[in-house]
Amino acid sequence: MRVIVDDSDVDVQAGTTVLQAVRLSGGFVPTLCFDERQEPFGACRVCMVGVRGASGPLPACTTLCRDGMVIDTRDETARRIAAATVELVLSELPQPPGEGTELAAIARDLGVEGELRWPGAVHERREDLRHPYLALRQELCISCGRCVRACDEVQGAFALTAVGRGFDANIAAGMDQGFRDSTCVSCGACADTCPTDAITEISLLAMIER
Ligand code: SF4
Ligand code: FES
Repeated sequence: MRVIVDDSDVDVQAGTTVLQAVRLSGGFVPTLCFDERQEPFGACRVCMVGVRGASGPLPACTTLCRDGMVIDTRDETARRIAAATVELVLSELPQPPGEGTELAAIARDLGVEGELRWPGAVHERREDLRHPYLALRQELCISCGRCVRACDEVQGAFALTAVGRGFDANIAAGMDQGFRDSTCVSCGACADTCPTDAITEISLLAMIER
């Protein structure tokens, strides 16, 4: 079937997501909870796009293409929703995300910079640096779930769990006893996928702004 992404025709197979079609076209949509090595999760609502005839913007990572679909990656409402979502996420962090993180890059793309409109409660610092290779800085966790899925789907170690709700949502290693005493096999898949460096290699911490 054929879809149109920002005026480009793209031939796609049945089952192709809008995000895949956008990428096939050479276009770009910011994503936060998506990692192409994992099944789409559809949790963050940052990958919003306009679709002609739809009642509102749709998440690109979980929406399947239909023949003749007309997709607008620059749709103003979609970009506004994505920017507001990222701004809310940033407002809960005790410090801006490191320049090199995915979250910082997405914020730049969406124009979310400078003073935030909704200052409020921020996460308290809670670091676990006991593991020889992996650092967990829970205050930087945005609950995207990518590390949990990497651990389950990619490595099959099941060492990480999503815990808490709303503002208190976070992740825990093992029964919250930390990486060192969990079933972690030190593969680093969680650090590799984390978009905020909440989990990172301990050897890199010295090079990251903290
Ligand atoms: S630690 Fe990182 S990858 Fe895991 S849920 Fe938090 S932000 Fe997402
Ligand atoms: S990247 Fe699509 S909902 Fe998060």
